[in-house]
This record gives sequence, structure tokens and C-alpha cells, in this order.
Amino acid sequence: MLRKSVSRPASRGFSVLKSLKTTESPKSTQNAKPNDRFKPLSDAQVAYLDRVVRVDQAGELGANYIYAGQYFVLASKYPHLKPVLHHMWEQEIHHHNTFNEMQLKRRVRPSLITPLWKLGAFIMGSGTALISPEAAMACTEAVETVIGGHYNDQLRCLNNQYELERNDGTKGHSQELSSLIATIKQFRDDELEHLDTAIEYDSHKAVPYILLTEGIKNVCRVAIWTAERV
Ligand SMILES: [Fe+2]
Ligand SMILES: [Fe+2]
Repeated sequence: MLRKSVSRPASRGFSVLKSLKTTESPKSTQNAKPNDRFKPLSDAQVAYLDRVVRVDQAGELGANYIYAGQYFVLASKYPHLKPVLHHMWEQEIHHHNTFNEMQLKRRVRPSLITPLWKLGAFIMGSGTALISPEAAMACTEAVETVIGGHYNDQLRCLNNQYELERNDGTKGHSQELSSLIATIKQFRDDELEHLDTAIEYDSHKAVPYILLTEGIKNVCRVAIWTAERV
């Protein structure tokens, strides 16, 4: 059973990170001098941030279910893997909960095919684990390779495209953008740690390694593209 997942309301308005348009938290805005305030984000910037929150929430939900599937199949049969899988799963639950909270706070609608992400991810995790522990680790290696790259793409965009002009003409990142960037950086580092763990636990010995990893990478890329839009 999946733990600690935050339930979401059945329906939610189409979003838009309206509060990011003001770009400062109420507290910091109250304390800020007039010249420290940022000019609003453009509609395109707000739309991209919407997509970031939607796709990352869907991706972390998927990761939560992948590790749940792996844990379900492997934990009792391979006791030496139990703490390893448990540690990675706990981190994915934290990532998932963080983006759940962000999605609710920002009123970003979730991906419309969330049930499919859950089902597909659980099948991917449990299915590869049923082949072998090495195949499960190959699944982790493939997923984390794509997700690490995906987070790096987002970081590049947020760092380069979201420096906002203050009223006094200087530029910088708002407090909320800085916080989002720090969160994504931390999660990217966690995913790359999972990738290293998968290799350490013999992902390269999976059979058929290339077919599994390349197939799963392609599935992940399609899922990311879809979750950003649907
Ligand atoms: Fe994650
Ligand atoms: Fe991960």
C-alpha cells in the first residue's frame, strides 16, 4: 500500500500560479522596500511554471509507484535489497508530497491521466522486479537517467529565463523562484544518487539490459511530454 500520499480534491480550477505573478511571498513583500519588488512574470513564464509543477508532480507520483512495485515484489525475497529500496522509496514519497503541496498551493491542475501514471508505474516497477532484481535496477537506472536530465533542463530554463527586473532596474530571482530552483536541485541530486545505487546493485547485469533501459527511457520521455500537456 502506498503511504503518505496526499489526497487531492476531485476537481481543481485551471491554474496559473497567480501568486507567482506577484513573485514575492506575502511576508517578504510586506517587509520589502518598494524598490525590492519584482515586476510580474509574463503569461508564457507563468504557463511554463504550471507545466513544471504538473509534470514534476506526475513524475514523482510515478516514481513513488515504481518503487512501491519494486518493494512489493523484492523486499521479502531479497532481504539485502529491502533497506536500499526502502530508502529510495522514502525519498520518492518526499518528492511526491512536496510537489503535491506545491500543486495545491499554486492551484495547478493535475495531469488528467493520473490513474494511468499510477497503473503504468506500478506495472513497470513490479514487472521489472519480477524479471529479476537486476532488471528492477536497470529500470531505476533508466528512469533516473531521464529524470535527472529532465530536472537539469528545467533548472537551465529557470536559471536563464526567470531573472526578473526589480522596480529599481536591478535583476534577480524572486524568493519563490529561488525556493523552486533549490527544491528541483535537491531532487535532481537524489535521483542521481538513485542512479548510482542502481548501478552499484548490478543494473548492468540485467538481461536484456539494452532493450530494458532504452525501452524504459523512451517510455519516460513520452510520459514527460504527455504529462506536461495533458
Ligand atoms: Fe523523485
Ligand atoms: Fe528517484
